[in-house]
Amino acid sequence: MEKKNIDWANLGFGYVQTDKRYVANYKDGAWDDGALISDATVAISECAGVLQYAQTCFEGLKAYTTEDGHIVTFRPDLNAARLKSSCERLEIPVFPEERFLEAVSETVAANEAYVPPYGSGATLYIRPFIFGSSAVIGVAPAAEYQFRVFTTPVGPYFKGGAKPLTIRVSDFDRAAPHGTGHIKAGLNYAMSLYAIVDAHQKGFDENMYLDPATRTKVEETGGANFLFVTKDNKVVTPKSDSILPSITRRSLITVARDYLGLEVEEREVFFDEVKDFAECGLCGTAAVISPVGKIVDHGKEICLPSGMTEMGPVTKKLYDTLTGIQMGRIEAPEGWIHVIK
Ligand code: PLP
Ligand code: COI
Repeated sequence: MEKKNIDWANLGFGYVQTDKRYVANYKDGAWDDGALISDATVAISECAGVLQYAQTCFEGLKAYTTEDGHIVTFRPDLNAARLKSSCERLEIPVFPEERFLEAVSETVAANEAYVPPYGSGATLYIRPFIFGSSAVIGVAPAAEYQFRVFTTPVGPYFKGGAKPLTIRVSDFDRAAPHGTGHIKAGLNYAMSLYAIVDAHQKGFDENMYLDPATRTKVEETGGANFLFVTKDNKVVTPKSDSILPSITRRSLITVARDYLGLEVEEREVFFDEVKDFAECGLCGTAAVISPVGKIVDHGKEICLPSGMTEMGPVTKKLYDTLTGIQMGRIEAPEGWIHVIK
């Protein structure tokens, strides 16, 4: 298979149209057989549920080329399960989990020429999503839906790759108590756009959102969960009902405990504690683990001891082990690696 002529090492996190996408439609109470198609555009009613009332949710995962030349995905069953819970919360019919896995594999295989080579620093980002496609004008779920999966080759989510980030405490909330923060609804990201544009204009890479009810606890950023390291090498990660249950974070907990022998605490993290941590990172499929060097709270700077030039030592070990597992250099726990070819 000849790869596309792409400058893999210099890819950012952007959309590059690839050859095939998977499409299935839901009508009269059932999903059709689905198929791979070439058309990258979507034609729907001007009154579609997704356009009027944001009835849509999505997933994000990656395909990797391993050291021995296989193409694999990482824990796609957890993306299938999370899409199911997102659909249930948004009154969207669930796309069966088994079919989700097949659709992801088929789409990746059909776009093999775009899967970045081992060692290139890039990966193939996979975006499954579902949206209400039929007309609704009174507030109600749509009657018809479309499920799609497309792929795009990507580089690092944050410009500068592994350079520590500067983030700020946001005055805006990304989720409501008892709202939709725990699912991957498009509406959560629309909510965060004003805050991220404002953060970028002011020179920050991301927003740290606090819990919407009391604004005393750390939640997450617009697109990643937090992971902290204490001065005595304990890994601490916020627990909250209004953050997305990150598959990367859940995997890193296992990596920290079982591969690195570290103690892990998954608990409420008060913002007041942050100044005492040794390291901070943002974790997610897109972010992988991106180190944070500085957190700014309304002009007051918290500078992590790990500094602004490199990842902290524990973050680096977590990063190396996780990416080692994903790229086939380190043996994975049972069931984590899904071989496509
Ligand atoms: N939090 C938010 C808001 C996200 O959008 C993402 C990305 O999917 C994550 C966390 C990380 O989740 P995962 O590790 O499953 O990609
Ligand atoms: C992902 O990490 O897959 C996400 O969906 C995050 C998004 C901000 C790109």
